[in-house]
Amino acid sequence: MKKAGRISEANATLLPATSRKPAFAGLGHTRWATHGGVTDENAHPHLDCTGQIAVVHNGIIENWSELKKDLLARGHKFKSETDTEVAAHLIEEAITNKQLTINNFAEAVRKVFNQLEGLNAIVVYSPQLRAIIAFRNGSPLVVGVGEEEHYVASDIPAFLPYTRKVSFLEDGEGVILSNARDQKSDIRIVEAKTGKTKPPKVEEITWSAGEAELGEHPHYLIKEISEQPEILARLAQYSESDIKEVAKLIKGSFGTYFTACGTAAHSGLAATYLFSDLAKRHVNFAVGSEFYFLESFLVPKSLLIAASQSGETMDTLEAVRAAKKHRSKVVALTNVEGSSLTRLADKTLLLNCGPEKAVLATKSYTAKLALFLLLAAQMGGDLDAGRKLVKRSAKAVGELLNGGQIEKLTKRLRDSEHIYIIGRGVNYATALEAALKIKEVSYIHAEGFAGGELKHGVIALIEEGTPCLVFVANDHARSSALSNAKEIKSRGGFVIGVSPREDEVFDEWIKVPDVGEASAIVNVVPAQLLAYHLAVERGLDPDKPRNLAKSVTVK
Ligand code: AGP
Repeated sequence: MKKAGRISEANATLLPATSRKPAFAGLGHTRWATHGGVTDENAHPHLDCTGQIAVVHNGIIENWSELKKDLLARGHKFKSETDTEVAAHLIEEAITNKQLTINNFAEAVRKVFNQLEGLNAIVVYSPQLRAIIAFRNGSPLVVGVGEEEHYVASDIPAFLPYTRKVSFLEDGEGVILSNARDQKSDIRIVEAKTGKTKPPKVEEITWSAGEAELGEHPHYLIKEISEQPEILARLAQYSESDIKEVAKLIKGSFGTYFTACGTAAHSGLAATYLFSDLAKRHVNFAVGSEFYFLESFLVPKSLLIAASQSGETMDTLEAVRAAKKHRSKVVALTNVEGSSLTRLADKTLLLNCGPEKAVLATKSYTAKLALFLLLAAQMGGDLDAGRKLVKRSAKAVGELLNGGQIEKLTKRLRDSEHIYIIGRGVNYATALEAALKIKEVSYIHAEGFAGGELKHGVIALIEEGTPCLVFVANDHARSSALSNAKEIKSRGGFVIGVSPREDEVFDEWIKVPDVGEASAIVNVVPAQLLAYHLAVERGLDPDKPRNLAKSVTVK
């Protein structure tokens, strides 16, 4: 059963439970379209001509068109426009004239996987053999080890309700899961290059199934926003030895570079200000998807700090691989134990903020800011001062969550076409993050930029009533941010000030507690709440916005 759109839409087409036959294995996949339109035919799984080989896939098969040409010449019939379907027909070719055994089938899948160019993960199901064979190279794949049943998924939360025992697959590794008749379910790890097999290395992860459940919250987004005070309070006590170890790496490096994508990138940009303010140290920042075009300056003494909630974002991993090529050291800031990033990095700082299931990153963003602040404080010679700032921000976020200032503002902005957002200094990053949150989930065009850039062009967009969010912290950027607010006001803009102190230029004032250098951690929370309430107010799904995936595992 496959359908364009959401799992729920596919479920609706399933046979009623009473008329379904008992199943020994299941295969499901929500594919982010890269080849062909978002159609039922292009949805996964893809079958071969016999219908007995089903494939789901993550990544991009870069040599798919020449493989397809050859298969068409051999008489294979294709039903979709996808690169993935090529794998199903290649396996069909490889197993033809061979006795259908689990080992022969696994060998066929292995040989085909080695033919696929690019970064991919495939999961292949044979109903006849009651076997699932999967391989990964670059795209995420992890095995869940159960009592009688086993799982393979791109992410741990997929099987967390059933098992916390996992076996992480390295790049170039695969797994054979079989449940042959009257045999105990079997699980073997297999090397893609050689076909050698070995038993799985099973580890227990710390996340509990409860953490991945909604509980009393209507949506994961608001659940995860509301978890931030507890997470920040915990991060304020982060392991001293880990912070000191990374600070030592930064001190000893010949140039430190932050890289990441999307929301994680905004935390990297904010970190450059935190290091300048708290450590008087320059660190460089480049977004992950551009980093590998800049890598030529890296040397073995360079240090790359890569931040990624999922630890699976392909562009960030490619930046890390580029750094590894130059033998530079890599430090990872990530939320997922055992993720690809942790395996590439020389040192990992875990965010410990529990599974983040909403597509919008919220708690993982403030967690990264807190870790960067602690690193900068350590570099500046006063880790305890950093701990106090993070602790203050935990309390402040708690107060904001109980504030209720945002619902009223949501009503005012719900039909806006455009919202402009400015910030200065570290809150320039907050402005970018606020705009991303609003765009991602409410589909309102929100644009964030450095307040000082207004007069260099963007101010042309401001007209009577244009809503503008202005972050005005109690720091050395306050007066500049206020004069930018006045520039907006004088062109008729509606100024919404997010600030510890009121100012006459504000048409609407969102009061935030004053937490000094930790302002970026606290200031983003009203924007997270605004994005959430705008989505709900506009009847949109806050957890699964259109066109977006939680972790972007394609380049
Ligand atoms: C943020 O809300 C988005 N989901 C997206 O920008 C995300 O931050 C980006 O894809 C990076 O993800 P990562 O932190 O898992 O690497």
